Amino acid sequence: MSDTTVEKPWTGRFNEPTNAFVEAFGASVGFDQRMYKQDIAGSVAHAKMLASVGVLTDEERDTILEGLTEIEGEIERGEFEWSIALEDVHMNIEKRLTDKIGMAGKKLHTGRSRNDQVATDVRLYLRAEIDTAIAPELKRLQLALIELAEREAETIMPGFTHLQTAQPITFGHHMLAWNEMLQRDSERLADCRKRVNIMPLGSAALAGTTYPIDRDFTARELGFDMPCRNSLDGVSDRDFAIEFLSWASIMLMHMSRFSEELILWTSSQFDWVDLGDSFCTGSSIMPQKKNPDVPELVRGKTGRIFGSLSSMLMIMKGQPLAYNKDNQEDKEPLFDAIDTVKGCLKVYADMMAQIELKRENMREAALRGFSTATDLADYLVRNGVPFRDAHEVVGKAVALGVETKRDLSEMSLEELQGFSDAIKDDVFDYLTLEGSVGARDHIGGTAPERVRCAAKMAAELLIN
Ligand code: ARG
Repeated sequence: MSDTTVEKPWTGRFNEPTNAFVEAFGASVGFDQRMYKQDIAGSVAHAKMLASVGVLTDEERDTILEGLTEIEGEIERGEFEWSIALEDVHMNIEKRLTDKIGMAGKKLHTGRSRNDQVATDVRLYLRAEIDTAIAPELKRLQLALIELAEREAETIMPGFTHLQTAQPITFGHHMLAWNEMLQRDSERLADCRKRVNIMPLGSAALAGTTYPIDRDFTARELGFDMPCRNSLDGVSDRDFAIEFLSWASIMLMHMSRFSEELILWTSSQFDWVDLGDSFCTGSSIMPQKKNPDVPELVRGKTGRIFGSLSSMLMIMKGQPLAYNKDNQEDKEPLFDAIDTVKGCLKVYADMMAQIELKRENMREAALRGFSTATDLADYLVRNGVPFRDAHEVVGKAVALGVETKRDLSEMSLEELQGFSDAIKDDVFDYLTLEGSVGARDHIGGTAPERVRCAAKMAAELLIN
């Protein structure tokens, strides 16, 4: 691909060709060619606008549009020859256009610079990924969680604090907790999109252009909400990419926490869920192994995303206005994050739609660890015992349970009454797991009925 004899657009000012290594070092075409569609769409809009204000004739415009359509076909059929000497996707396509159509092709770059062109392309690319892949996949994962929550509204598991058994909860409630995080993520993504969808085109190199351009025209053509308000900012702002990477970091942080739970739950120590053979791998040496690769990889990939966010912040922190070549470094972390996020969401949506629960094991785990101790204390308080005394009474009952390896619900009424005479024979209604979760029947509570309502509301909140 490297060919230092290809004529650069700036040869007028230069006496020597580019050093061969510098040419390869400075080229971005290896990674920015994925924006070819956006680059062509931007040029199409620009050409139409130039014709509408009389800078191009209608004939020139049509020749340009035809040439660009042909080039798009060549790229899609894999016939296009990308050249490192032509540095990036923008110059590659422009050069090909000029080779194809001559004079009119040379006029396309009137009133435009690669600086506003690249900023426009990246925004268009990110917007398309958000709209066609990332937001829909996120929604699909949310739906899988909501459906699972609805189905498992009554399934009991122990809830933890400090990873120690705390109180019984329903599995559905637990899934909806993850959905709440993803719901905020999806709202944040929609908000981030607003700032992605601002058009730099027309900023030209940095100061705008002397041609009578119509920026509202191009913004409309390209589906942008508006042209940027300041040309210097337009060519140099990469906040939108930082914002997307921050969004991705927060979302992957959530997915990584979730992964950690799934990894624990699939271990033989927990044995609560089965992720399905098609989402796991075995070991080449230990025949018994079934490894939770998907959640492990998602947890691992979270580090990459945080790294991309750091890269992007560092790329920007020292840059004076306006465009600097540093900005070419924005693409790899951004593209990698887009690919990574899409992959994580897709695999999770598929995996969660077919996860299987080992309900009996979860229930047994909830019975171990005195998860209804708070319920007994609350029961005593309702029967007139001050909370601190109730806490003490239950503490003693738990100590007996530890000693004799029994749950509170497995003790006799007489034994329990030995700790407090406020205990009556209805106490077992409260010591059961079902009694415990069923009693937490308020907004945000874990009771099965509440979970069903919450799942319904969560489905209504899903962003289309
Ligand atoms: N390939 C460049 C980038 O990715 C395009 C803009 C180049 N502009 C310039 N003045 N050298 O940022």
